[in-house]
Amino acid sequence: MKRKLIISVTLILGLIVFKSCKKDPEITNGNNPNNHQTTPYTIERKAWYPPFKLPADNPLTEEGVMLGRMLFYDPIMSRDSSISCNSCHLQSRAFAESLKVSKGIRGQLLTRNSMPLFNLMWQSRFFWDGRVTNLREQVLIPIQAHDEMDLDLYSLTLKLNASEQYTPLFKKAFNTEKITPNEVSKALEQFLTSMVSFNSKIDQLFGRTDTLNVISASALRGLNLFMKPVEDGGADCFHCHSNIPFFGNTSPGGSMANNGLNAVFTDKGLGRITGRPTDEGKFKIPSLRNIELTAPYMHDGRFATLDEVMDFYSDQMNFNSPNLDINILAHNQQLNLTQQQKDDIVEFLRALTDNEFINNPKFKNPF
Ligand code: HEC
Ligand code: HEC
Repeated sequence: MKRKLIISVTLILGLIVFKSCKKDPEITNGNNPNNHQTTPYTIERKAWYPPFKLPADNPLTEEGVMLGRMLFYDPIMSRDSSISCNSCHLQSRAFAESLKVSKGIRGQLLTRNSMPLFNLMWQSRFFWDGRVTNLREQVLIPIQAHDEMDLDLYSLTLKLNASEQYTPLFKKAFNTEKITPNEVSKALEQFLTSMVSFNSKIDQLFGRTDTLNVISASALRGLNLFMKPVEDGGADCFHCHSNIPFFGNTSPGGSMANNGLNAVFTDKGLGRITGRPTDEGKFKIPSLRNIELTAPYMHDGRFATLDEVMDFYSDQMNFNSPNLDINILAHNQQLNLTQQQKDDIVEFLRALTDNEFINNPKFKNPF
């Protein structure tokens, strides 16, 4: 009996060692610069996923991803330890939230709608105005912003270095005695990078011909309208949102556009960042995956429902908006969709929901 136990324990240990030695180049992504013992983190992948774009100088490890996940959910990251990243980014909402605009540390209203968090490793710009091009830089911004978490990086590292909970975890993940903002941003980058969402009904369509077994006839009509140009009786959404499989635009050059929300800009978007009048009114083209979960919509949360979004694209685009995207300007007329067409597109958008993602235990609050 005892012998059997020892043999099976040895077998299990052997398996674990074997597992941690196994090198998948796409997953471990280079050697750990600190040359100490960590366990490579594996992102599960299905055949239709695009190739991973992992940060070369920050390989994902079990220890790093878990640490990032703790930091994401821990109010220690705000000045008075009252709010965390999770206060404005909820898993049940694909890590966006249901407020029109977010509420900061003192309950004050911000000017923009929270953004969903998934498939970030492929994004080339972050925030509605695209002002940051690197995820590791991005994560430190909400921590310091006075109207968000309002914690300067010096105080943050003082708090973390004084924490008996965190110092050993940073040591394990990054082999560091003293925690600096660098390790904080790397841990958060690892956790955010691990959030991948490609398991919607639409994903099940790839490579199939029996489409109606997967989505409804209405959703299929919606998909066709979404993908077709106006000249062919379509709704022309694909020009901006159809970079498959993202259903957004991840290219560095093409990810920002003015979709005609305003004739006059109160929020100039990219224009405020670059100072160029030709960039005014341009905002990040968001992914439409999980869109059913992330109401309200647009950078200022102006539309409460997808039906309101469809009324906008059908009848309310501002053709006199400066810098209106060429793809909309080209047809120079409202789409005038029928109620059935609008409903069909909404049905299609609902088929982009990934229930596995919002229930995945790997992204849940670890505390
Ligand atoms: C007070 C609410 C709030 C908190 C707290 C908050 N965020 Fe956000 N987050 C937002 C809002 C609002 C935006 C869009 C802001 C903008 O465009 O200027 C955003 C945008 C982002 C984006 C950009 C996503 C994209 O697709 O471009 C990332 C990434 C992000 N937040 C991560 C985090 C992390 C990590 C934390 C914690 C360290 C955090 N956020 C804390 C409200 C918040
Ligand atoms: C010219 C490019 C362009 C076209 C064409 C376009 N969109 Fe958009 N879409 C955008 C941009 C940019 C935003 C974000 C705008 C903002 O918040 O200021 C957006 C936002 C959205 C949102 C809200 C996303 C969110 O997270 O709040 C939905 C839904 C949407 N579009 C659906 C569609 C549909 C359906 C069509 C076709 C009828 C379409 N779009 C056509 C560029 C475009």
